Amino acid sequence: GPSGTDIRDCSTDPPYLPPTATDTTARVAALRDAMRALGVQAYVVPATDAHMSEYISSRDARLGWLTGFTGSAGTGVVTQDKAALWTDSRYWTQAERQLDCNWELQRTTSIESIRMWILEVVPVGGNISLDPFLFSIDTWNSYRQALQGSGRILFPIETNLVDQVWGDQRPAAASSEIYSLPEEFTGSSWQEKVTRIRQEMEQHVRHPTAVLLSGLEETAWLFNLRGNDIPYNPVFYSYTLLTNTSISLFVGERRLAAAARSSLRAGCPGPLCVELQEYEQAPDHLRQYVQGNVTVWLGTEYTTYGLYSLIPQEKLLADRYSPVMLAKAVKNTREQDLLRAAHVRDAVAVIQYLLWLEKTVPRGEVNEFSGAQRMDALRQSEHSCGPSFQSISASGLNAALAHYSPSNGSSRQLSVDEMYLADTGGQYLDGTTDITRTVHWGMPTPLQKEAYTRVLMGNIDLSRLVFPPNTAGRVIESFARRPLWEVGLNYGHGTGHGIGNFLSVHEWLSSHQAPFWPPEPGYYQDGEFGIRIEDVALVVEAQTEKPFLTFEVVSLVPYDRNLIDISLLSPEQIRYLNTYYESIRARVGQELQRQQLQEEYDWLHRSTEPFPLGRATATTATSSMGVLALPMLLSALLPGLQS
Ligand SMILES: *[C@@H]1O[C@H](CO)[C@@H](O)[C@H](O)[C@H]1NC(C)=O
Ligand SMILES: *[C@@H]1O[C@H](CO)[C@@H](O)[C@H](O)[C@H]1NC(C)=O
Ligand SMILES: *[C@@H]1O[C@H](CO)[C@@H](O)[C@H](O)[C@H]1NC(C)=O
Ligand SMILES: *[C@@H]1O[C@H](CO)[C@@H](O)[C@H](O)[C@H]1NC(C)=O
Repeated sequence: GPSGTDIRDCSTDPPYLPPTATDTTARVAALRDAMRALGVQAYVVPATDAHMSEYISSRDARLGWLTGFTGSAGTGVVTQDKAALWTDSRYWTQAERQLDCNWELQRTTSIESIRMWILEVVPVGGNISLDPFLFSIDTWNSYRQALQGSGRILFPIETNLVDQVWGDQRPAAASSEIYSLPEEFTGSSWQEKVTRIRQEMEQHVRHPTAVLLSGLEETAWLFNLRGNDIPYNPVFYSYTLLTNTSISLFVGERRLAAAARSSLRAGCPGPLCVELQEYEQAPDHLRQYVQGNVTVWLGTEYTTYGLYSLIPQEKLLADRYSPVMLAKAVKNTREQDLLRAAHVRDAVAVIQYLLWLEKTVPRGEVNEFSGAQRMDALRQSEHSCGPSFQSISASGLNAALAHYSPSNGSSRQLSVDEMYLADTGGQYLDGTTDITRTVHWGMPTPLQKEAYTRVLMGNIDLSRLVFPPNTAGRVIESFARRPLWEVGLNYGHGTGHGIGNFLSVHEWLSSHQAPFWPPEPGYYQDGEFGIRIEDVALVVEAQTEKPFLTFEVVSLVPYDRNLIDISLLSPEQIRYLNTYYESIRARVGQELQRQQLQEEYDWLHRSTEPFPLGRATATTATSSMGVLALPMLLSALLPGLQS
């Protein structure tokens, strides 16, 4: 059985399992029968859906159903007599509590580990199968490379074997209404967006004749449509094939609101007519289309191998991101105004929350879970459409876990003796927000104060940075790390990601490798600055002779003064902070008054008092951090070290 600290004991008869474990014996046996019938020796089950969505619907939670493990990241592999689940350190404890003894837990996610396991249990000549419509091109390629020359065959099977054995028990397909975003909340009409993408197709040296969209937020953005198929993201199951002469939208047609349908059909017949086809028709339609003299442009990161493999190589134009994904990242003037407005309302909710915590935490009345619920409730204001991701509300040690989210049963009490981190966000018709603030209501240690201040300094340095267009993200983000690096600190995750307007909160999942592209004002980036400060920022043109870029921070919530050691800040950093606070006062102060939130207004004024410039020059910053203190600090304060 599995070793280590696993709370399961599979060596006894009957095995010891926690009550949270799921009995998967019948499911695994049924899958093995299906595998045997098809000559499959190992079947790989991912945690993703057909669109590489960050959050998936219950209907797509195949790995969760098969294994009992409900974490958002993992891979399962089943053979005739073994089964194993691979997941990363965030989820080890959860997996031990949820898996039964049919499953080994592999505490890694490396393909190399999966490869070695497969080579041990599957003989030469064996078939390793998977559903090609659940693996991105990139992931497929890494499996292919891993098994190359091993004598095992990577063999896609289009019928999903888990779905087959899940049968009637599988949750029904989404059926809620798909609607048009009101015009006041859109940056441009869908016709303008389509026309612009077609221009890009024409201008491209390879003259692609079509763009294939698989990412759900791509189709939602292109047509200004929204739905409710997936938690936290207002998207709907769909594909789009946009050609030089036609537009095919693959979606449950009955699900479209009447107004949405007439908007899409207004230009029919003609090049701006949207042909509505059933969601399931996308592969067949693509297969037909590539019979012609065509070139199909797609993004490899979120297009499945299943669709990709239908396109002959010479008819394929594969980039990491489709032109729609890139166009969506750049916010035009209207979209910028919309997201600024959403952030003002969001700041009001976060400020209400911080003030409420200040009053209730000393009375011992809040835990992580009830705090998160309060935050979510406060966001239910004008244009609100719920949280944009599962709130991270973490006190003390829990804040060191990168993706910790409290549950009702096990939730730490908030205390004036501990730091508290809230990483939360909202969906509004005019924008998506994502903000992290860390606070301490008592006496922070010098170590906590310095670490926090250095994260803040990194945040400020990044926000003030002026940089040439096309500078790589990883170059830019090193400015955020520098104040930490100076004292031998770091954090183990990326610094930023794109964010949508009433779309996904994480637009580019592996953004630390993505260039800042295209170099136009409007692409915006938010940052996760080490410990726990996160703001959304627009990339805008700097006041330089050459068109260099800089950031405009649109999140408008002050930082915790109790945690700032102002003597560490340079005069430039203090000036920046004071200017930022002035704009918070101007924009959020006004809104607080409009909403007659006087107590919050007073709190805002106290929290945004300008810092004196004098002290910073008077003191030479000395680090309070000894080398011995580092491991403690890293494990206690810095999130994401494992990732
Ligand atoms: C692998 O799959 C192929 C195609 O279905 C089948 O012909 C073959 O017998 C399978 N191999 C084994 C070892 O079962
Ligand atoms: C395919 O289309 C390209 C670009 O329109 C053209 O140059 C080429 O001759 C066409 N090939 C065939 C076989 O029609
Ligand atoms: C669209 O692309 C097709 C396929 O390559 C080509 O035959 C046709 O001429 C193009 N039509 C226009 C209007 O560009
Ligand atoms: C959380 O648990 C408490 C106590 O069991 C219960 O009263 C409450 O309704 C639960 N809240 C939610 C949102 O599930």
